Amino acid sequence: MKAIIIATSIVTVLLVALAGCRLFSRRREPATIAFAGIVPGKAAVVYYSQSKVQNTALVAKWIQKHVGGELVAIEPVEPYPEAYSQTLKVADKEHADGVEREIKPVSIPEDCEVVFIGSPIWYGTFAPPVATFLKGNPLSGRTVVPFCTHGGGGAGHFEQDVRVACPEAKVLPGFAARGSNQIERRLGSGVEAHHTENDVVAWLNGIFGGDGLGHLPQ
Ligand SMILES: Cc1cc2nc3c(=O)[nH]c(=O)nc-3n(C[C@H](O)[C@H](O)[C@H](O)COP(=O)(O)O)c2cc1C
Repeated sequence: MKAIIIATSIVTVLLVALAGCRLFSRRREPATIAFAGIVPGKAAVVYYSQSKVQNTALVAKWIQKHVGGELVAIEPVEPYPEAYSQTLKVADKEHADGVEREIKPVSIPEDCEVVFIGSPIWYGTFAPPVATFLKGNPLSGRTVVPFCTHGGGGAGHFEQDVRVACPEAKVLPGFAARGSNQIERRLGSGVEAHHTENDVVAWLNGIFGGDGLGHLPQ
């Protein structure tokens, strides 16, 4: 009897995993809608992405594919540990102590007028390397477009914190994508388990094409 229960459980887990993989691969299809908006000037897509699945990096690449401009990665001088549990340990302490994370020099083109700024959500806001970047580069006079990925808790106060960090910038409504959970990570899937390139294009059309979409869910 015990053997039957174990065998049934194993088969169920495998079927769920298989169905999940099918869903994920379907979602990896490229965008089927076109970006039709007008970006007011040269763009740069600046982002930090920490986890193995690189959720925020993927959204950054989708944005850059449609609006063009330079893709710029923020890198801490000392990277966080690779293992998720170790990252949490280090980040928890850093968060509790209010310590800044030093980053390598970031250069964005002087003549870019639109700066997308992307981060994973850590503790309801942008991750410390992005905080360090914005502290040194408040992007005054530029149009700033926030985007983030999160683990299911939503964007928190990310967009509001970008507005506070960039008081002299025009901040447009951002995009929040749900990233992968622990099980999905093991299946090798990232943000595309929940979002598609089309979602990003629809948001871009909303903010640059004039139909008013693209608000971050709270
Ligand atoms: C230290 C730490 C704190 C996090 N805090 C949150 C949080 O407050 N809310 C949430 O929804 N997800 C949280 N997450 C999950 C990440 O936001 C999510 O996995 C994100 O998609 C990772 O993006 P990346 O692959 O670009 O690093 C946290 C992850 C880490 C490592």
